[in-house]
Amino acid sequence: MKELAPSSAIPLCYYASAHAALAAAFLALVIDPSLPGASFYHPRMIALVHLVTLGWLTASILGSFYIVGPLALRVPMVTGPADWVAFTGFTSGTIGMVAHFWTNSYDGMAWSAILVFTAVAFVGARAWRGLAASIAPWPVGLHVSLAFFNMLAAAVLGILIGFDRTRGVLGLSPLGMMLAHAHLAAVGWVVMMVVGLSYRLIPMILPAAMPTGASLALSAILLEGGLVVLVVALLRESSFVWCGALLIVAGLASFVTRIRLMVARRLPRPPALPRRDWSTWQTHAAFVWLLVTAALGLALSVGVPDEHRLTTMWIYGGAGLLGFLAQIVVGMQGRLVPLYAWYRAFASKGAPPDVAANALPHAPFARAIFLLWTAGVPLLTWGLPTENHVAITLGAALLFAGVLTGGAYVAHMLIRARGGPRPNP
Ligand code: HEM
Repeated sequence: MKELAPSSAIPLCYYASAHAALAAAFLALVIDPSLPGASFYHPRMIALVHLVTLGWLTASILGSFYIVGPLALRVPMVTGPADWVAFTGFTSGTIGMVAHFWTNSYDGMAWSAILVFTAVAFVGARAWRGLAASIAPWPVGLHVSLAFFNMLAAAVLGILIGFDRTRGVLGLSPLGMMLAHAHLAAVGWVVMMVVGLSYRLIPMILPAAMPTGASLALSAILLEGGLVVLVVALLRESSFVWCGALLIVAGLASFVTRIRLMVARRLPRPPALPRRDWSTWQTHAAFVWLLVTAALGLALSVGVPDEHRLTTMWIYGGAGLLGFLAQIVVGMQGRLVPLYAWYRAFASKGAPPDVAANALPHAPFARAIFLLWTAGVPLLTWGLPTENHVAITLGAALLFAGVLTGGAYVAHMLIRARGGPRPNP
């Protein structure tokens, strides 16, 4: 069916803007490694964080949804002018937010954020409508629907925080609100979406039998339940933060258990795929960082001695945002782009491309990206809390190179699918 062929230019444009945002964040640190300073809670650092969380993570998810929706969820994502308006609104809203964070003008940030909210609501509404008629198991739809809901809730909270900065009417602790917003967005949006989509994507990629059954909903229920407890506890500055953290870890454990079952029942590998699949290795590396994040998150929720609290929070944020979330998106893109490139070439030629989608991944590119991230993430995660400028510069430079290589890799696969130059083995 034509409407289930992900061939529009929308994913490409979201991916291009995502690479530009992440490259800009790392470049800023290479140019000025003293920018973060001792605390992560100041306007310029918050601007860089949103280049990663909105510019990279959210743009990548929105772009990927135009590929994954039709291919893995059977949700038609035919694009029209409204999708381009949403893309333009999202990109200009994100630029506006980052610029206003940078100059510490929170009112302007909140107005720009309304554009971002509207764009996400538009894609979310398409997803919700399509999921109602989709053949994907309902628990997968539950994860995806909750993810969009959480992102919108996080955006509303962020907008309220922005307006509250100059008016001070909410009467809540600024740190509590910031942490509630950050977890609603990072866990509720990115983690929930990654978990839900993985139930369909991992079996497609391995390949393995598609998991089914109501028990798939367990991770969504535990993650969402934990998030509600965590957000309320953070906003009320209550000591029940640990209950929320524990439920979230239980949700992640239920997800990992399902994935292990899938891996144990994998089917034979497609012969065209390169022998070592570095993009999948990158997702494995991301899961190692998830373990670090979960352990530190639990420790912080129970209580870390005051003298170690700031360092622990720095490492928790670095491990969670860069090591796990940003990196898992890199790995997933490495396996989604070949499929997208194949469909795009099909649409432009009007006939199946000569090269199979599984033959598009190119090990030297994917290996270079894997190595650059593997070296860059720990250097930066260690350099930030210790204010070690050499480690920050080197880590950010390696990651900057990783992002540029990632962009070149996307272009390489798109060109090769259209019959461009064959790489050296
Ligand atoms: C329209 C969407 C968004 C809005 C309006 C928004 C707004 C804000 C605001 C106002 C703050 C600062 C709070 C303060 O100064 O107390 C903040 C911090 C933060 N936000 Fe967002 N945000 C959005 C999207 C996201 C997303 C998608 C993520 C994660 C995936 C995220 C993660 C964070 C983090 C980690 C911080 C803490 C940064 C630091 O302390 O350095 N935000 N956000």
